[in-house]
Amino acid sequence: MYRRLNRLLCPQTVSVISNSINKTTKLSYCKVAVSKLEDGRKFISTKRSDKYSEVDIADHSWRQMNHIWTEDEIKDRIKSAGQTYTPKTFSDHVAHKLMKTLYHSFNFITGYKADNPTTKSIEWRLIVLESFAGVPGFVGAAFRHFYSLRALERDHGMIFTLLEEAENERMHLLTCMKMFKASTVTRTLVFTAQFTMTPIAMLLYLIKPQMLNRFVGFLEETATQTYANIIKHVETEGTHLNKDWGSLKAPQIAINYWNLPKHDASWLLCLKHILADEAHHRDVNHALASLPTGSDNPFIGEHIQNFDKAAVRRTEQILKDTIHSNYEK
Ligand SMILES: [Fe+2]
Ligand SMILES: [Fe+2]
Repeated sequence: MYRRLNRLLCPQTVSVISNSINKTTKLSYCKVAVSKLEDGRKFISTKRSDKYSEVDIADHSWRQMNHIWTEDEIKDRIKSAGQTYTPKTFSDHVAHKLMKTLYHSFNFITGYKADNPTTKSIEWRLIVLESFAGVPGFVGAAFRHFYSLRALERDHGMIFTLLEEAENERMHLLTCMKMFKASTVTRTLVFTAQFTMTPIAMLLYLIKPQMLNRFVGFLEETATQTYANIIKHVETEGTHLNKDWGSLKAPQIAINYWNLPKHDASWLLCLKHILADEAHHRDVNHALASLPTGSDNPFIGEHIQNFDKAAVRRTEQILKDTIHSNYEK
């Protein structure tokens, strides 16, 4: 489907572009075409090209690099699933009460039961949970971005941490969307959750940024517990989740995003990686909530390491591919 820019250009600009791209060419992941309107004016239109498949890009920019979990790290995060933070300050208590109220209302509306949940109840729970979990990080990042602009000051990496979390949550959602479909009711709930919860997240950040981080810390505690419960049931013979999800393969988008084994990655392994991400969000947000305003971002080192490791993985892959293609010749 064409997404038209409809940006009318002066004839010289169009001429330069059309000469350089020879009417239609692939630029990055967009196909650009110069077309003519009926009255002779020219415009540029773009559409998704097949140069980079969904698998290649995994809907993921290269700047925001997620952590690739090792087996031992995942085991540690699964063990930590019951870990909770005890509210200390007044704002902690407000965030905790708000989270608990929302959590119990959500369980009531969705009819969720932790013991042997049905697959359907988990499917729509995950879609709604992940669609909302991607909101607070983006809200926090937006506030910090605007603050940096108006204060004429650097942010020192906190924006990045929050954006990385938001993207990670969106990847959880997109991974889920490869495994099951959202019904009209689920879509309505997703829509409602976004429109009601985004202003609440903004309000919390406006009152006290640490209060939103604490709220997300509590939210992530429940997300980690939910995934731990799902994993336990997928691994337990005779449960609904074991029957429906026990032998499923991980979708390709997840294999690329978490660097899972290419041929035999299971959906269960994918769920374990998501749990590790959620436990990490829990720890990051509780840590940020405990930091005094204006503190340095303690997670910068992690981002640098994640980027360096990704660069090494990418270089190794290019070398392997080159050796492989030379060997085939
Ligand atoms: Fe998530
Ligand atoms: Fe999360």
